Amino acid sequence: MTVVFTDIKNDIAVITIDNPPVNALSHALRSELSNALEGINNNTKIIAAVIICAGRTFCAGADIKEFGKPPLSPTLPDLMEQMDEFEKPLIAAINGTALGGGFELALCCHHRVMDVNAKVGLPEVNLGLIPGAGGTQRLPRLIGLAHALQMITSGKPINAEKAKKLGISEKVSEHNLLEDAISFAKGADVRRIRDLKVDGSTEEVENFQNKIARRSRGFLAPFAALDALKASMELPFEEGIVFEREKFMELVSSSHSKAQRHLFFAERAATKVDGIDKTTPIRKINHVGVIGGGIMGCGIAINFLSAGMAVSLLEISNEAVAAAGEKIRNIYQSMVNKGRISEEQMQTAINQLNLITDYDGLSNSDLIIEAVFEDLNVKKEVFRKLDNIAKEGAIIATNTSFLDINEMANVTTRKSDILGLHFFSPAHIMPLLEIVKTDDTSNEVIATAFQLAKNIRKTPVLSGVCYGFIANRMSSCYGREAGLLLLEGATVEQVDQTMFDFGMPMGMFTMLDMAGIDIGVMARAKLPNGSYDERAFSIHAELVEKGHKGQKTGAGFYLYEGKEKKHNPEIDKIAEKMAHDFGISRCRKTTKEIEERCILALINEGYKILEEEIALSASDIDVVYAFAFGFPRYKGGPMHYAEHLGLKYVVDRINEFAVQYGDRWWKPSSLLVKRAKESE
Ligand code: 3HC
Repeated sequence: MTVVFTDIKNDIAVITIDNPPVNALSHALRSELSNALEGINNNTKIIAAVIICAGRTFCAGADIKEFGKPPLSPTLPDLMEQMDEFEKPLIAAINGTALGGGFELALCCHHRVMDVNAKVGLPEVNLGLIPGAGGTQRLPRLIGLAHALQMITSGKPINAEKAKKLGISEKVSEHNLLEDAISFAKGADVRRIRDLKVDGSTEEVENFQNKIARRSRGFLAPFAALDALKASMELPFEEGIVFEREKFMELVSSSHSKAQRHLFFAERAATKVDGIDKTTPIRKINHVGVIGGGIMGCGIAINFLSAGMAVSLLEISNEAVAAAGEKIRNIYQSMVNKGRISEEQMQTAINQLNLITDYDGLSNSDLIIEAVFEDLNVKKEVFRKLDNIAKEGAIIATNTSFLDINEMANVTTRKSDILGLHFFSPAHIMPLLEIVKTDDTSNEVIATAFQLAKNIRKTPVLSGVCYGFIANRMSSCYGREAGLLLLEGATVEQVDQTMFDFGMPMGMFTMLDMAGIDIGVMARAKLPNGSYDERAFSIHAELVEKGHKGQKTGAGFYLYEGKEKKHNPEIDKIAEKMAHDFGISRCRKTTKEIEERCILALINEGYKILEEEIALSASDIDVVYAFAFGFPRYKGGPMHYAEHLGLKYVVDRINEFAVQYGDRWWKPSSLLVKRAKESE
């Protein structure tokens, strides 16, 4: 299949790249583009060339699927060099998004014209990489070190207006990109970015390193990018390019980049579900009803308001509904204060909010999500009411974190329209949406939920019904091991620090203190005896009984003075007493054991979830844990990390824990055992 087409318009060559879906720089594309450029260089009738791309994307960069395979000539650096050497003015006409190698290709051109809606960026850090086709050497030469540092380490694209301001593009096209690029080409000269000097200093790089130290903790790529940017100032261009390439190659084969690339594809694979395709009908969702004006309900409502949908929010009284409205307004106001949205955007969203106290006000909603108290009977009652008033074809969803959605669906006469839409707190910020299908949810409703997730910019993953679904079921196991470790002699600080060092955003006990220890205690109180390890959560229960519920009460697993947390000596005493009562012997715990107990518990439960077909694939589980709980992306999620550790090692360690601590929880999943044998 031909992917590069050349057309001559008067004396200007127009090179069109057409390599769907995103014009990635595959080997075929590189060869054809290289041949096209050579032909144009040798054609004396042509005075300049314009490169433009077909489709919605200018070019999404190197073909990520080719990474790890032997490089085929011409490589991307070969092609970039050829473009740099091109003897006639070469103009990139950028539509859609020019990302990574795609933007680097545009930087090898002598000039850039951008469509008014186009964006450019170097998102390689998100894949655990640095730009490897000259981006770290050309961009600082073009826009100065300060802006290049920002763009390359954040990976965030910028729009045409900003690109013009920074000097990336010379013209913004408002009407016809190709015509504008051709007319620009007629008067253009040959201007190579490589010949420019970098405006910046080594000190700036060092200061920037301190600035990103916290947000980039554990990642390799942002710091490698800083080294390459430093090289852009300290080395001649050609040597800088070699330096960049070496760093890039090191990163491509690193476990970090493999894990981050795994998550890139996993996130996309999660949206592909058997039985659902482009022909599956999707229902229109313009009006959303939300029941419950707590933190969760308000956060959920904001997602839809921000996406331009009308929301009716129901609470039991005028006071409660007014308080919910106030909460939503405050959240929007803080977004305005932080410069994330304009006053006008806030007003447009708030104007779409309708505060109600009567269920009849939901009769026009296309989708109704309940976020009431986590109690099955309360929720069933809500579902009965909704079954009476919701219009035909409306989708009814629960935001429950743990409860059985089949039971909720069973009290209605429209079981196929019921599902779980499980948001994570704070719901307007956290990126994951677990779409939970019951035994009867129709494909049409699932497909609509996936589309909805896209519209509100969430990452969706499909889950079956089980206690806690994918995310919270796994997290409960991690919580259990963390709790048991305290009884066995580890300290709160030791467990939290170990998991923080592993790469989690915070330790389990810091998280519990933030969320409120009472929430879990109340939820567990409703569980049947024996369904969870009472010992593991005994300290939690004791703390709540004493009114020490976490940050909000000034004491929990830590003591709080303002936001500063301190050791809570009370925990050591409770742990010793509980350990004695349960007959658990205490000893010093190693970091290795703490880490493995927590992480292998997650992995084993992940395999059980897969075995029971609650999750459709291991990569779905990785997406859930990375997006809901911040499992370090450079480790790729618990299931990917298990492969990295070696499945045989994982099974062996679980068996050792079974000998040491009993096999009530430490029974390896049979699927894990099977996969470990296969991998041998
Ligand atoms: N290589 C290979 N496949 C790619 C790709 C790439 N660079 N970018 C996207 N794809 C694939 C996706 O996997 C998906 O495949 P699928 O349909 O089989 O699932 C398909 O293209 C469409 O992608 P999206 O579903 O993401 O489509 P959207 O329209 O939502 O988004 C996009 C388009 C904004 C371009 C988004 O795909 C994206 O962000 N792509 C990655 C961009 C990137 O990270 N570029 C840097 C690559 S590394 C590099 O260039 C190194 C260089 O410096 C040497």
